[in-house]
Amino acid sequence: MQLTDFDADRFLRDYWQKRPLLIRNPWSAWRNPLEPDELAGLACEEGIESRLVVQSGDSWALDHGPFAEDRFATLGAAPWTLLVQAVDHYAPDVAALLDPFRFIPNWRIDDVMVSYASDGGGVGPHFDQYDVFLIQGLGKRRWRVGAQCDETTPLRPHADLRLLANFEATDEWVLEPGDMLYVPPGFAHDGVAVGEDCMTYSIGFRAPSRADLLIEWAEHLADMMPDEDRYADPDIKAAAHPGEIAPSAIDRLHAMTIEKLLDRDAFARWFGQHNSTPKYAEADWRPEEPVTVADLAALAGEGAVLLRNPASRLAFLREADGLLLFADGNAFPCAGIPAALAERICAEDRLALDPSMAEAMELLVALVNQGSLMIDDEEDED
Ligand code: SIN
Ligand code: CO
Repeated sequence: MQLTDFDADRFLRDYWQKRPLLIRNPWSAWRNPLEPDELAGLACEEGIESRLVVQSGDSWALDHGPFAEDRFATLGAAPWTLLVQAVDHYAPDVAALLDPFRFIPNWRIDDVMVSYASDGGGVGPHFDQYDVFLIQGLGKRRWRVGAQCDETTPLRPHADLRLLANFEATDEWVLEPGDMLYVPPGFAHDGVAVGEDCMTYSIGFRAPSRADLLIEWAEHLADMMPDEDRYADPDIKAAAHPGEIAPSAIDRLHAMTIEKLLDRDAFARWFGQHNSTPKYAEADWRPEEPVTVADLAALAGEGAVLLRNPASRLAFLREADGLLLFADGNAFPCAGIPAALAERICAEDRLALDPSMAEAMELLVALVNQGSLMIDDEEDED
């Protein structure tokens, strides 16, 4: 699905990470990509992250999935919302919603969350830490947006939901199928279903927190440091005062802590690998039987197609002699034909195999066997 009448450069300059924007149906032909029943089905599955928010008056109850199949039929008249994370991993038509947003690099993309609400349902006024495009799929939703919040913004006392204590809307719109609202990080927002069968698709981004970066990069470095790598002072002089930690000792200790943190190239390699680790580590997408180079070469002769697993995280770093491909937490140095293919795999969701790819077979085999690429076994309908 493509956007018409949407200028990505202008959007990035004027709105991205700056202010909310309502975009009235920008799609060439909007079609709701998932049925409510299919969403409910996903929420009943083990390993899929889902939540149910049920409202009664001014109180909100949160429950986590997986849910029993009869749960949604027994909810009654109180407004409710079902939210399912990473639906793009399971529904190719939902994954296709990401295509028009590829002007934002892969490493910033999180997932597509899908919500279904009954009349009046919503998750309440809140703010998120991430950019989001809220696409109305089915039915109508009234969105109100407010001011930018931060950690000092008062929240209602609630064990699980971070609801705003005081929400004042600065703008309000009713979104209809195909309409889209962009909300930057921190902006208060509240979406309430108007009528039944309200489905909203949230294209969610991610941005590492400084705290996580520091902790995780330092942990990675620390894992490689031998226990003997310690403070040493063979040049120590007699202490002027037994209580003083000398400035020279602090200089040496401080240098010990930051030296390795400053290695930009090592950081780049670590970050690529770390950022490409799958959203759900426990999900196993590997094929039942591993493939061999000979298997793939034979398939290439038949013009078979490899599909990128929508759950896979793929990105690369350019290097002097090619590139370093990151795929689901693993790094693959590539040059020549494999490097060209790695770029295509990061940008395209399908790759038609052909015999000219012989040099890249080992890379493709590794990617298939770790579940990042899948052999398309659908019969070609054309
Ligand atoms: C929803 O789809 O109901 C909630 C999305 C959001 O506010 O982030
Ligand atoms: Co939100």
